[in-house]
Amino acid sequence: MAQLWGGRFTKETDQLVYNFNASISFDKKFYRQDIQGSMAHAKMLTKQGILSAEDGAKIQKGLEEILRDVENGTLQITEEYEDIHSFVEANLIARIGDAGKRLHTGRSRNDQVALDMKLYTREEIHEIDRELTGLLETLLNLMEEHLETYMPGFTHLQKAQPITLAHHLGAYFEMFKRDRQRLADIEKRMNLCPLGSGALAGTTYPLDRDYTAELLGFDGPTLNSMDSVSDRDYLIELLAALSTIMMHLSRFCEEIIIWNTNEYRFVEIDDAYSTGSSIMPQKKNPDIAELVRGKTGRVYGALISLLTTMKGLPLAYNKDMQEDKELTFDAMDTAKGCLALFNGMLSTIKFRKKVMETSAKNGFTNATDAADYLVNHGVPFRDAHGIIGRLVLYCIEKNCAIDDLSLSELREICPVFQEDIYEAISLKTCVEKRLTIGAPGKAAMEEAIRREKEYLAETKKRA
Ligand code: ARG
Repeated sequence: MAQLWGGRFTKETDQLVYNFNASISFDKKFYRQDIQGSMAHAKMLTKQGILSAEDGAKIQKGLEEILRDVENGTLQITEEYEDIHSFVEANLIARIGDAGKRLHTGRSRNDQVALDMKLYTREEIHEIDRELTGLLETLLNLMEEHLETYMPGFTHLQKAQPITLAHHLGAYFEMFKRDRQRLADIEKRMNLCPLGSGALAGTTYPLDRDYTAELLGFDGPTLNSMDSVSDRDYLIELLAALSTIMMHLSRFCEEIIIWNTNEYRFVEIDDAYSTGSSIMPQKKNPDIAELVRGKTGRVYGALISLLTTMKGLPLAYNKDMQEDKELTFDAMDTAKGCLALFNGMLSTIKFRKKVMETSAKNGFTNATDAADYLVNHGVPFRDAHGIIGRLVLYCIEKNCAIDDLSLSELREICPVFQEDIYEAISLKTCVEKRLTIGAPGKAAMEEAIRREKEYLAETKKRA
């Protein structure tokens, strides 16, 4: 048991209590950020004359060496320490003696852990953003390739109107774009440095908190020391953003699973992203899509978990807050992993254009356009709707599409129809005439793609 405290205790900690309380098994994940924070703190203490230049230099060197040794594997982070902070401090003292004992001047583990978690989370946000950007690039490439791949658009999972695959994929582009924007907003709000807040009430040492914040790449210091050590809002916001990313992935997975069924056959998932059955030799299952859909639950769980942990906590720090780590780490790792796998699956998937197009031709996806044709020939829309409804019923009985009827059959139902009806309700016309901003027509899609490319170029420049 290696603890940073013990002076006022007369008994050893019970072993079970020690194990229950310790956090090193998971907070070792941010050893690098802990050392980085300590370096900045020591540098600031030295600048302020709180530490001598000599001690400051020893501390920097000692911390650099600990970092190097952990990274090259010569120094193991073992569970004999209570947490990562104790591990670093104990090793520093073992290496440089008394100077190491001065590092914790004007600092508490409460502001230290608040800092470490922020530094770690900030880096993770950048990584998740990179994964999202990669997915957006895959989507954009596919959109350019499938501007004329026709397919049915659905409402209620019933065929509604024809669209293109580019248009369908473009909807997901918007979702993942908003996800990136959400992450950027969170980063902006969280990017204030808590170090220097002490246990809860600041400190009497003349710390330069602006300087520490600057050293660590923050926009400035936090403005209330009680809030600084007990704010976990940014993690809750992040878990909500990750939940939304997972929800988007899960919807997309659900569609791919449906499209991949023997009944739809719109897509074929690549062998490298499918799995087989131990008993049924014919099977090729969409397990990756199912797993991504399934893992959405644990990320939602993390959000509800942390909200619940925080709801009854009085100011300022309480040990309950230690529970923020495992679930946030798990949610970040899960989202990152799912984004990477999904991107791989999507970029290797085969779209069966012919099947999609045939499906769009069946199921009366041109019924709205047939009604619009009548409207353009003077029939009020409500009447046109009724006429086409009867026409559809007639076709269902005959088991054919509207386009399959002869002109005389059409005119029997409504004499307004003329030869140009066939052109007006062809699949190509139905899609290509839809040219309002955001619609599936090729020219409209090309404009949308042009704007998305601009957006990607601009945000990548900033990243
Ligand atoms: N392991 C703790 C956490 O994650 C670090 C802060 C400990 N502070 C304290 N007063 N016990 O929250």
